[in-house]
Amino acid sequence: MTLDYFVVFITISLALVPSQCQSTNFTSLVNLFIGTASGANGGSGGNAFPGAAIPHAMAKVGIDVSTAPRQAGYIHDNSTITGISLMHDEGTGGNTNGGYGIFPLFPLNNCTFESCPVGIGARATLRSANADSASPGYFTTKFINNIQIETTSTRRAGLIRFTFPESSEVNHVVVDLAHDLGRSFSGGTISMSSDGRVELSGIYLQSYGLDNYTVFGCYDFTPPSSLPSQPITNFGTFQSTSTSDPTDIVITPSNSSTASLSFPFTSSVSKIEAGGLVSFNASTVTARFGVSFISSSQACANAEEEVPDWDFDGIRETSRTSWESVLERVTIDVEKENATVVELLYSSLYRASLVPANLTGENPYWVSDFPFFDALFCSWDTFRTVHPLLSIVSPFEWSEIVNAYVDGWRHTGFIPECRANTKNGFVQGGSDGMPILGDFAVKYGSRGGELGVPTDDLYQALVDTAENTPPDWLTVGRQNTAWKTFGYIPTDWVDPSGSTGLATREASRAYEYALGDFAVRQAAIALGKSSGDVATYANRSMNFVNMWNPNITSDGFTGFAQRRFPNGSFAFSPPDACSPVDPTPHSCARGDDNDTGFYESSSWEMSFFAPHSVATLIRLMGGADTFINRVNHYFSKPYFQAGNEPSFNIPWIYHYANRPDLTALRVRDVVFRNFNTGIGGIPGNDDSGAMAALLTFHLLGLYPVSASNQLLIGSPFVSSFSLTNNFLGTTTKFTVNGFDEATVTGTPPNGSRLFVKSVTINGVESPSLCVIDFNDVIGGGDIVIEVDGDAEAAQTRGCGAGGLPDSLETGGFPIST
Ligand SMILES: *[C@@H]1O[C@H](CO)[C@@H](O)[C@H](O)[C@H]1NC(C)=O
Ligand SMILES: *[C@@H]1O[C@H](CO)[C@@H](O)[C@H](O)[C@H]1NC(C)=O
Ligand SMILES: *[C@@H]1O[C@H](CO)[C@@H](O)[C@H](O)[C@H]1NC(C)=O
Ligand SMILES: *[C@@H]1O[C@H](CO)[C@@H](O)[C@H](O)[C@H]1NC(C)=O
Ligand SMILES: *[C@@H]1O[C@H](CO)[C@@H](O)[C@H](O)[C@H]1NC(C)=O
Ligand SMILES: *[C@@H]1O[C@H](CO)[C@@H](O)[C@H](O)[C@H]1NC(C)=O
Ligand SMILES: *[C@@H]1O[C@H](CO)[C@@H](O)[C@H](O)[C@H]1NC(C)=O
Ligand SMILES: *[C@@H]1O[C@H](CO)[C@@H](O)[C@H](O)[C@H]1NC(C)=O
Ligand SMILES: *[C@@H]1O[C@H](CO)[C@@H](O)[C@H](O)[C@H]1NC(C)=O
Ligand SMILES: *[C@@H]1O[C@H](CO)[C@@H](O)[C@H](O)[C@H]1NC(C)=O
Ligand SMILES: *[C@@H]1O[C@H](CO)[C@@H](O)[C@H](O)[C@H]1NC(C)=O
Ligand SMILES: *[C@@H]1O[C@H](CO)[C@@H](O)[C@H](O)[C@H]1NC(C)=O
Repeated sequence: MTLDYFVVFITISLALVPSQCQSTNFTSLVNLFIGTASGANGGSGGNAFPGAAIPHAMAKVGIDVSTAPRQAGYIHDNSTITGISLMHDEGTGGNTNGGYGIFPLFPLNNCTFESCPVGIGARATLRSANADSASPGYFTTKFINNIQIETTSTRRAGLIRFTFPESSEVNHVVVDLAHDLGRSFSGGTISMSSDGRVELSGIYLQSYGLDNYTVFGCYDFTPPSSLPSQPITNFGTFQSTSTSDPTDIVITPSNSSTASLSFPFTSSVSKIEAGGLVSFNASTVTARFGVSFISSSQACANAEEEVPDWDFDGIRETSRTSWESVLERVTIDVEKENATVVELLYSSLYRASLVPANLTGENPYWVSDFPFFDALFCSWDTFRTVHPLLSIVSPFEWSEIVNAYVDGWRHTGFIPECRANTKNGFVQGGSDGMPILGDFAVKYGSRGGELGVPTDDLYQALVDTAENTPPDWLTVGRQNTAWKTFGYIPTDWVDPSGSTGLATREASRAYEYALGDFAVRQAAIALGKSSGDVATYANRSMNFVNMWNPNITSDGFTGFAQRRFPNGSFAFSPPDACSPVDPTPHSCARGDDNDTGFYESSSWEMSFFAPHSVATLIRLMGGADTFINRVNHYFSKPYFQAGNEPSFNIPWIYHYANRPDLTALRVRDVVFRNFNTGIGGIPGNDDSGAMAALLTFHLLGLYPVSASNQLLIGSPFVSSFSLTNNFLGTTTKFTVNGFDEATVTGTPPNGSRLFVKSVTINGVESPSLCVIDFNDVIGGGDIVIEVDGDAEAAQTRGCGAGGLPDSLETGGFPIST
């Protein structure tokens, strides 16, 4: 892509920022610190990223703590800070040291150039109490030595400003080359020039995968002449004298107009300290930065194009208005509704649009006219809630992201699953880009042309990923050899195709493969593909039943998903293994332990996972009454694991047993028990906004059914809300008739008006009290949900006659609608 192209884009995007944005101020309601505490017992917490970023930004600028876990760099505690760095993940698990955190800057004063404490340990500094503050597009903090840090950013560039105490005579900024968050430096370069430009390249390890990546940065320390000058009085490089004693560092001032260091690639991570140091005669020092995956000159060009005037306040306001335009797609009366709910809602909407990261123009691997997105980390986390939320309010953004998935297939043969730091990450279960693409086909397939998504390619991506087995399904794709041969994923089986990948997570993978095949079936229908394809994938989507062992009993409930040998007999796993009350330690992650068959979930939990045919599960479990008792027991034991994705839809699963009243109670309980506005307010990792999007759905009284037009409808936490679809230009207003503030709590009092009594769509009463069609949700107009407090009446009316959500087994998701 040419530079001219980007100039044109920036001009247009600035022109499009609506000036009427002043009318709403949802950005002021976002609390960026929710989910920034460490987890219990030193484990990882929400890992939310509280720094500066625009929606779907590549540049995510924020401060980094010295202690782990620190997946997103920041932790809201009193750890020392090692720098402010340019890119971060949002909410991910993976390496507890964190991902990215590249090219940190660090401000120093009170030292002479050659004796400055430039090393990462020596320089680390505490923040003043309560100094951290952030709002969409802006972050600031202050060190105990009174140096203030501020930052704001664009998609690939931004500004970092250091304000030193007036009393400090000479001030310095460290430019660190050798420390990413993961401490995985494997080579790189820094070159500095007396005109204030510093160019960097570095090779680091990805945070969730086996590969490394190369990234480029550019700093400018000489602002345009229209701004106050910050004269550079000295600059040079520093590096460890040896790798065995990395903290013994020599700082070498430049004796010419340049200075540089170069470290060739090493296959083992280097422990050295290396970087640059720049000194200023100024008490305010602003650095402009750019990042790139192409070259350092492109990083500089990105900075020049996106931050031409170094206008800190202007960039900050542009970032804020871009967030405002995202947040205002979900509108509520913020004065009227419960303040906690308001804060949770807008903070969640914010985090749900931080990733995937828009790396369009920064694809180092192939040339393409299609967008390129990174931090698909992982589709396993995001397919359930993040993408369905985008489908409702952000179809333009979603189309670009879907195109990036399809383009991944176009150039590698498989839908990407967990692209992280531009490289394939680890596969956790199925290839969960499949339900994402299936969802797009169902919802926008007929308008793919208008949205720029070639739907024939999208379909081929689905089919290839459903049929072909990659050489290594550890990083992409599925073990289709096993799936197609057995109709389940056998345990203790050597794949004759030679495909590698850990022989683990057999049972949970089978459940996810089944949903993936349902997505192909749905896409085949939506896109008018052959009836043979529809039948083939419908059939395979029901193969999750092959993992069902009807003879296993746990806590008085019979029939559980289990691993299975190639000869058909079952291998026993305790159904509570990997649950929160597992008496035996299991890792239950992507490790090479293969003694349970379930990933981040238990058999107790995964046995509820067939979003496309819950009726089958009800049948297998012995009917609706037993099913309801079993769901209740799952929550009370608790086998429910709020912090991991397989649990997401279970609070809503009573709908399928005709008991939306129980869903209403359960969702209230789950929300107030697990989410709050504090730094520990997310149960488990935010997972690239997966938890944020889940909470958004819970609060709005909706839950999306994967790869389908169905959403479960329930009892909202607000009296009304409007959803605006930025492609169709429609706004749909939901009003809760009889809304009862007393229900905004974990345990609504008896008689409070919690239960959905009727749903009226543009004046027409819906036959279902449990399901609403996607096209009604985005169709514009008025949806009125009437609620009452009569629990017995609610139980009696259930979903209304014929109102149950669809299940494939009982004729749901019909071929012609
Ligand atoms: C938004 O609200 C915040 C906090 O009330 C206020 O400081 C800010 O000026 C407002 N911004 C706009 C553009 O109205
Ligand atoms: C400056 O550094 C000296 C020693 O290097 C230290 O004793 C002094 O407290 C420092 N002053 C400030 C203001 O940090
Ligand atoms: C961290 O601890 C130091 C020293 O005890 C204290 O001065 C500072 O205020 C604390 N900062 C925060 C953010 O609590
Ligand atoms: C890491 O990157 C280098 C060069 O950038 C490459 O030669 C090497 O094969 C990569 N190593 C791994 C493990 O991918
Ligand atoms: C500049 O520094 C380099 C490396 O430190 C040294 O080799 C060189 O002789 C110096 N040149 C001058 C003119 O001092
Ligand atoms: C810094 O600049 C001021 C005014 O521009 C000058 O008076 C002072 O001598 C300079 N200090 C240093 C250390 O260069
Ligand atoms: C991604 O970046 C491209 C290139 O600047 C831009 O056209 C597009 O609107 C961006 N999309 C999103 C979702 O940020
Ligand atoms: C478990 O994994 C090991 C090593 O990959 C393998 O040898 C063994 O057959 C596996 N066992 C089962 C039950 O899958
Ligand atoms: C799927 O097809 C196989 C083979 O024809 C058949 O045995 C099986 O019953 C089918 N399953 C379903 C759920 O229709
Ligand atoms: C379950 O038990 C019944 C009765 O003992 C037996 O006929 C059946 O084969 C068993 N099924 C499995 C899958 O073990
Ligand atoms: C099936 O295979 C397993 C594992 O090799 C073995 O323990 C079991 O006895 C076999 N069952 C039958 C019926 O052959
Ligand atoms: C909002 O709801 C929460 C949770 O029930 C409650 O603690 C809080 O008091 C409510 N706030 C107001 C202003 O009613």
